[in-house]
Amino acid sequence: MDFKASNRLVAVGDKYLAVQQEQIKKLQQQGISIINLGRGNPDQPTFPDIVEKAKHELDNPITHGYPPYGGNAELKSVIREFYQNEYGVVLAENEVTVLSGSTAALTAFPMALANVGDFVLTPTPAFFGYHIGITMSGAKSWPMLLSEENNYLPDLHAIPTDVAQKSPLMFLNYPHNPTGAGATRKFFDEVTAFGLKNKIAIVHDFAYADISFDHQAPSFLQSARAKETGVEIYTMSKAFNMAGWRVAFAVGNASIIKLLKTYIQNSVGGTFGAVQNASAYALQGQGEQRQQLRELYLDRRNAVIQALNQIGLSATHSSGTFFIWVKLPNSKTDDKAFAKELLDQAHVAVVPGSAFGDAGQGYIRISLVAPVDVLLNGVTKIGQFLHRQTLV
Ligand SMILES: Cc1ncc(COP(=O)(O)O)c(C=O)c1O
Repeated sequence: MDFKASNRLVAVGDKYLAVQQEQIKKLQQQGISIINLGRGNPDQPTFPDIVEKAKHELDNPITHGYPPYGGNAELKSVIREFYQNEYGVVLAENEVTVLSGSTAALTAFPMALANVGDFVLTPTPAFFGYHIGITMSGAKSWPMLLSEENNYLPDLHAIPTDVAQKSPLMFLNYPHNPTGAGATRKFFDEVTAFGLKNKIAIVHDFAYADISFDHQAPSFLQSARAKETGVEIYTMSKAFNMAGWRVAFAVGNASIIKLLKTYIQNSVGGTFGAVQNASAYALQGQGEQRQQLRELYLDRRNAVIQALNQIGLSATHSSGTFFIWVKLPNSKTDDKAFAKELLDQAHVAVVPGSAFGDAGQGYIRISLVAPVDVLLNGVTKIGQFLHRQTLV
């Protein structure tokens, strides 16, 4: 017997990468090898001493039971030290909670804070993760347009007052997936003032906190009074190559943290103790390895941007993340058709910009999670494809 999805699940729709993965599988089954520049999965292994620590923790029977809700006391205390050392942000015990990855938390926020018919202020283009909780909660997304002219920062003045009044929640994400744009302290100060004025819970998704090239990416919580109106989500997935371990944390406003914890403890539950202990270990060191990882992505970014320019494509110089946002030649605005043809004919997978929202139309996103020779081979094939299509 086949069962039907609920109306809200139908409204969520299929994740673009899952659909593309199926298309890739079909081509691979025909013996075709694909250069995948679509996925955002770090290609490097977790730093070895974190793995060793986790192996050791697996033998510790204390880690085998249900973990305490909201995280182990030791990890929470290490997170507070980490934020103080990295960003100069002082956090109280009730301003921290541990999560099994940030994806579940991003879904949890609208479920915990929004009601049917409310607006959630959401950037477009943006990571797919925000839209799921918004749709499942019965709230509606209010798109905040990010454009090249605005350095991919939303214009807060463009949000109508009646919309702001009906918005319990705003999502932000810098360094930004998919454009690679960074935020400034000044921008976060404006966001804080906006959140305080309109009583909006700001959720800053800081997934690429550590992958910032020219300077350290600012934390939203560095703005004075930011903690009165918002939280920040920090994942171990990218900075420590721990995407498969499913561990992240939220820090900031105590009442938002409490609501998040209530929802998470009743849905996802706790995070495996051995993973928490290995994360506490990771957050207390790894400075050199984190720096090497940043340099690896920087080298890849520079090589790929140069190669893209050589094939006649203009790419935005990313300030962080492991993504490059590429504008398609003028005659090509149907980025979904472009990505499909590129996969079928040149055997290169990229994500079409409109998969991140309508504002991404006319762009593609290239991921830097492959060795340089693979990345450059992919760009060469894109160049040959464009040439065949007489697009450049
Ligand atoms: C902007 C952004 N937020 C969150 C996530 C998910 O992170 P996690 O592995 O913690 O679920 C991703 C993953 O690609 C991302 O790009």
